[in-house]
Amino acid sequence: MNEQDLRRQLLDQLTVGGSVRSPQWRQAVAVTGRHEFLRGGFFRQVHDSAPTAWEPVMPGDKGWLSGCYTDASLVTQIAGTIVPGDIHGRILRQPTSSSTLPSLVVRMLEDLEIEDGMRVLEIGTGTGYSTALLCHRIGDGLVTSVEVDSVVAAGAATTLATLGHAPDLITGDGLAGHKDGAPYDRVIATCGVLTVPEQWIAQTRPGGQILATVGGWMHASELARLTVHDDGSATGRLLGGQVSFMLARPHQPPPPGMLPDTDGGTERDTMVDASILDDWTARFVAQTAAPAAQRLNLGNRGQLLLDTDAGSWALLQPYQRGWRVRQGGPCSLWDPIEDRLREWLHDGSPRLDQFRILITPDGYHVYSWPHAR
Ligand SMILES: C[S@@+](CC[C@H](N)C(=O)[O-])C[C@H]1O[C@@H](n2cnc3c(N)ncnc32)[C@H](O)[C@@H]1O
Repeated sequence: MNEQDLRRQLLDQLTVGGSVRSPQWRQAVAVTGRHEFLRGGFFRQVHDSAPTAWEPVMPGDKGWLSGCYTDASLVTQIAGTIVPGDIHGRILRQPTSSSTLPSLVVRMLEDLEIEDGMRVLEIGTGTGYSTALLCHRIGDGLVTSVEVDSVVAAGAATTLATLGHAPDLITGDGLAGHKDGAPYDRVIATCGVLTVPEQWIAQTRPGGQILATVGGWMHASELARLTVHDDGSATGRLLGGQVSFMLARPHQPPPPGMLPDTDGGTERDTMVDASILDDWTARFVAQTAAPAAQRLNLGNRGQLLLDTDAGSWALLQPYQRGWRVRQGGPCSLWDPIEDRLREWLHDGSPRLDQFRILITPDGYHVYSWPHAR
């Protein structure tokens, strides 16, 4: 199939799947060639590799053009500096930049309810594909996009200029937003965050909306849409769909380092079966109780929760017909998680799309429906 046919096929797929819902975004996708943003190649996951290995796919390689038009996220940078052209063979490090799967990009743009004349701030330019869609929809002059990685930002700037787009492209930490372009009608983040930064709220006009994936270090996340109010607070809900994005670089967890000596600490039975942490929603709930905890699955030796900076840990192990927990360090990591999970189970295990978010100058609150005030 040639490029035009592949693009049309992807567009049909996004329309039938419900991601493209309006003629305006349909048109934006129709005129924006995703392959233009992937001329530096992408990394393909090596089949059945564990830990995950990646191999480069370059323009001209079999599968490059068709890959550009699959509804999949395509990794474009690994370990903060490595691009596909650098690698002959395979690499086993973590992805740090990608072109997000088109169905999610368009779903988010549709969910953001962008209208003509609105000013939009995007966090995480990446390849520039989503930036180009925004430019097409509302016009270059209304789009500001921030990318933390200067090499990635330069690549996106070149591609966008080649295609005739000139949005305001900023290189820097998008967690600070971009004050000079404020106020914005909409803020959209294509990297995940632990909490929505107060700067995004301050830079959004009252009545404006923020769309971002909120997540944590136990790898559960969800898309949140917030409305900003006159008093500087923001309220909204989680939208559902188990959306996940790579976390913003300043929000990445510290490396776990040396594992603690789990012979110390104190031991007790736990009321909650720790295998519940295999469930996405349960992990999301657990993260809200202990945001600094990371989870290491030790297979048949149980699960280790670790707050690296504080030095606290909790080892959860199956014991007879239940589970036991051994906790060490300055605070008991499992106690608040267990309390929060019991509350969530008591409420009937609400789904993530039944959760609300409230952000005021006093703090960040995520709560499920029965606790809505
Ligand atoms: C999933 S990719 C973006 C996808 C992009 N919108 C596209 O469609 O091609 C996430 C991007 O966010 C960037 N990023 C991570 N932390 C950031 C931060 N604090 N500020 C701005 N960009 C950030 C990463 O470097 C990466 O390029």
